[in-house]
Amino acid sequence: MRRRRIAVAAGCCLSFFLGTLLNVLFIPGFDHQQRQRSGVTPALAGSPLDLPEEDRGSRRWELARQIRERYEEVVRYQQHRAPAAAARRLVRPLERRLMDLAQPRTSSEQAVRPEKGKAPPQADSRGVSPAGAKIDLALEPPLLGCRDIHNVTHVHYLGSGYTKAVYKVVLNRTLAVALKSVDFGGHDIENCVRQYAALEACYRLASYKLVKEMVLLQRLQHANILQLYGYCYQDSNDIPDTLTTITELGSPLEMIQLLQTSWEDRFRICLSLVRLLHYLAHSPLGSVTLLDFRPRQFVIVDGELKVTDLDDASIEESSCTSNSDCFIEFPARNFTLPCSVEGRCQNMNEKRNLYNAYRFFFTYLLPHSAPPSLRPLLDMIVNATGELHWGIDETVAQLERVLHLYKSGIYLQNTTWMPKAADYQQIPDAAIPDENYRCWPSYHHKGCLLSVFDINEAIEICENHSQCKAFVLTNQTTWTGRQLVFFKMGSNHIVPDPDKITYVKVTG
Ligand SMILES: Nc1ncnc2c1ncn2[C@@H]1O[C@H](COP(=O)(O)OP(=O)(O)O)[C@@H](O)[C@H]1O
Ligand SMILES: [Mg+2]
Repeated sequence: MRRRRIAVAAGCCLSFFLGTLLNVLFIPGFDHQQRQRSGVTPALAGSPLDLPEEDRGSRRWELARQIRERYEEVVRYQQHRAPAAAARRLVRPLERRLMDLAQPRTSSEQAVRPEKGKAPPQADSRGVSPAGAKIDLALEPPLLGCRDIHNVTHVHYLGSGYTKAVYKVVLNRTLAVALKSVDFGGHDIENCVRQYAALEACYRLASYKLVKEMVLLQRLQHANILQLYGYCYQDSNDIPDTLTTITELGSPLEMIQLLQTSWEDRFRICLSLVRLLHYLAHSPLGSVTLLDFRPRQFVIVDGELKVTDLDDASIEESSCTSNSDCFIEFPARNFTLPCSVEGRCQNMNEKRNLYNAYRFFFTYLLPHSAPPSLRPLLDMIVNATGELHWGIDETVAQLERVLHLYKSGIYLQNTTWMPKAADYQQIPDAAIPDENYRCWPSYHHKGCLLSVFDINEAIEICENHSQCKAFVLTNQTTWTGRQLVFFKMGSNHIVPDPDKITYVKVTG
C-alpha cells in the first residue's frame, strides 16, 4: 500500500516535471537560450542552483536568481492555458500560425535537434531550431524571421524606453515593420552592468522581458494589441543569440499632438482603450493588468490606440484576508477594494487599469471640446471611472453608447438652433480651391476642414464662424462615417469638381 502511494506520488512529480519541460521547450526561441545555458557561459545558467554553494549570496548568485525568476515568469505565461472555446474564438489567422509554432513536438522531432554550432545561423533564420521548423511551416504562409530582416531599408529610430529600443524598417522594399530589441545603451542594461559587471548575463536578464512580451503578444489577440509578425535570434555585440522581435508598426503616442486633434479622434483613442481593457479583463489568461500604463507604452495605428509594451503586464491577482489588504495606491488617490470570500482582491487588475485609463487618458481626451449635448454623459463617464464606481463592462457599454449617439446624429436633435438651408445656394460638382481660413481643430493645417453629420450641421458651423462665407462638401469621411467639409472665407473663385458640392451663403 505504502509502495503504491510512493509510486503514485513519483508519477505525479514526473508528469509535472515533463509538463513544465515541454512547455518551456515551446517558448519561441527557448531552445537557443537552453543551448546557451548548457555549457557555453555558466554565468548565464539562469539557475542559482547551478552555482557553487559558496557563491550563494554573492552578486553573481543574485543575478542568476533574478534570471531564474524572469525565466519562470515567462514559463508561467506560456503555460497558462485558455479555456478551449475562448481561445478558438479569439485566434486570427496570423496568430494561429504563430501558435502553431508552439504546438508540442513529437519526441522524434526533438531527437533530431542539432547540437549547438552544427547548424549555420541561416538554417535557424526563423528563430526556431531546424527541428522546430519542421512543424508545418512549409504549408503555412511564412512567419517573419532573420532572413527577412537581413536586408532592410529605410531604417529609422522610433523610440526607446527603460529596456528596449525600437526601429522602423522596410522589409523587401514593401512592408514597413517595427524591430524591437534590448537596448545595449539603455538604462536597464546600464544599471545592471554597473551593479554586476556582467554584460552577457545582464543581457539575458533584460531579454527575458522581450521574451515575455513576445509570449504575451502571441497569446493575447485583439485589435488593440500590436501584432507580432515574427522574431530572430542572432549574434550581436559579441553576445550569442540576441533576440529581435518583428511587430506591426505604429507611431509613438504624443499626448501634446493628441490634444490638438478633433474630439472625434480623441474619442476614438478612448474607445480603443476601453475595448482593449475590456478584452484584458476577460482575456484567455485571466484578468491582465498593465502595471506601466504611461501613454508611451501605446502606439497609434491608423488612428487606433494599440498597446506595444507588455513586459510589465501581470495576471497575478492579490490574495487577501481583509479589505485592508486590497489597497491600491495612486499618486493623487488611493482605493480599498473588497476582499472576496475566496481571499482575492476583487477585480483589482481591472480597476487598476480603469483608474489609469482615467488619469492618463480620459481626463485629458474625453470631455474637452466635445459636442455640448454629449458633455453630461462624458462627464458622467469621467467621474465614474475617476471614482472607480464602474467596472470595465459598464464603462465600455457607456462609451459605445456615446459612439452610437454621435454616429447616428441623435446628439444633434437636442440643439435648439434650427438652420435655414435656404440661406445657402447649392452648386453641385463645384469646389473653391483657395479662400481658406484656419480654425481649430482642423483636419487640414492650412484650411478649416471639419467633419459634419449632415448639411445642417455644416450650416450651423458656418453660422458660428464669423469668417465663413461658403463651404465645400467633400466625398471623404472620417472613421465614424461623418463627411469632411472645407469652410471658406469667400467664393470668388469656384471651379468644377465632380466629387464636391459647394454651398455659398446668400447675403441680403
Ligand atoms: N510597434 C511600434 N511602432 C512604433 N513605435 C513603437 C513601437 N513599439 C514601441 N515603440 C516606441 O518605442 C518606445 C519603446 O518601446 P517599449 O516597448 O515601450 O520599450 P521599454 O520596455 O523599454 O519601455 C515606446 O515608448 C514607443 O514610443
Ligand atoms: Mg515602454
